Amino acid sequence: MPTEPEEEDSTAAALDANRVLWDEWAAIHAQSDWYNLDAVRAGADKLRAYEKAEVGDVTDLRLLHLQCQIGADSVSWARHGAHVTGVDFSPVAIQIATELAESLGVSAEFVCSDVLALPEHLTGTWDIVYASRGILGWISDLGRWARVASHFLRPGGTLYLTDMHPMARAVDDTTDTLQLGRPYWARTDPARLEVRGSYADPSAHVDSTSKFLWTHSTGDLITAVAQAGFRIEFFHEFPWLDRSLPSLTKVSPREFVPPNGIELPLYFSLRAHKV
Ligand SMILES: C[S@@+](CC[C@H](N)C(=O)[O-])C[C@H]1O[C@@H](n2cnc3c(N)ncnc32)[C@H](O)[C@@H]1O
Repeated sequence: MPTEPEEEDSTAAALDANRVLWDEWAAIHAQSDWYNLDAVRAGADKLRAYEKAEVGDVTDLRLLHLQCQIGADSVSWARHGAHVTGVDFSPVAIQIATELAESLGVSAEFVCSDVLALPEHLTGTWDIVYASRGILGWISDLGRWARVASHFLRPGGTLYLTDMHPMARAVDDTTDTLQLGRPYWARTDPARLEVRGSYADPSAHVDSTSKFLWTHSTGDLITAVAQAGFRIEFFHEFPWLDRSLPSLTKVSPREFVPPNGIELPLYFSLRAHKV
C-alpha cells in the first residue's frame, strides 16, 4: 500500500532523530567497556557461540552485515575468513568501523546508507546477509527490509538474523515485577521513548532526548521473510535476553532470565535461504 505524504514525513523525522542518536552512541560505544574495542584489537571474538554454529563456516564467503554499527562483529566475521561488507546509516559508526578494520588489516569494508535505501548505494551479490542484536526495532518497514536482504543475496544464499524476540519487546522495562506493559502487535507510528545515556554506558552524556522504535510481531517477521522469496529453515527461540531489564535475573554476563522459573521467549535466531 502506498504511504501517505504525512506518514512519510513522520517516518523521515523519526529516522533523522535516530541517526543523530546513533552518531552520539557510536562515539560513546567505541570507548565503552561493553564493546571493548581494545579487546577486539587484541583478538577478542565478539560473536556468540550459538550464532557461529548456526551460520556455519564462512571461509571465503561474501558476508553483507546489515546495521553493523562500529564493526566489532564485522571484523570478527572477517577473522573467521569472511569477506565482509558492513552497512550502517550512522556516518560516525561507519568511520569507526572503517578505522578498526584498517588497523587490523582484515577483509572488511563499510558503506554508509539507510538499510532500506541500500539498493541505491551498493551493487553486487553476497553469499550471506547477517544482522544481529538490536535490528528490528529501528526498522519502519519489515517487508522492505527483507526484500533488501533478498536483493543482495545470490540464489541459495543465506539470511541469518538474531535479535530480541518480539515478545521481549512487550515486557515492561520500567518495573521490578515481570509484566507485559508495551505493545506486541505493530502500530502505524513508532513509539517515542526517552533516552538517557546509552545501554552500553548509562552514565554517558547524550544530547538526544528521544529514540523512535517500531513494533513488529513474530508473525510480521516470519511473513516478511517468507514473502521476500526465502525458504525459512528455522526460527529458534531462546529463554534469555542479552541485556538487563529490572525484572530479569542475570545468569551469565550476556544472559538475563525471568524470575521464579517463568519461561518466556526473549531472543530468537532465524535462518532462511533465498529460493
Ligand atoms: C544495536 S546496533 C546493532 C549492531 C550490533 N549488534 C552492535 O551491537 O554493534 C543497531 C544499529 O542499527 C543502525 N541503524 C538503525 N536504523 C538504521 C537504518 N534505518 N539504516 C541503517 N542502519 C540503521 C544503528 O546506527 C546501529 O548501528
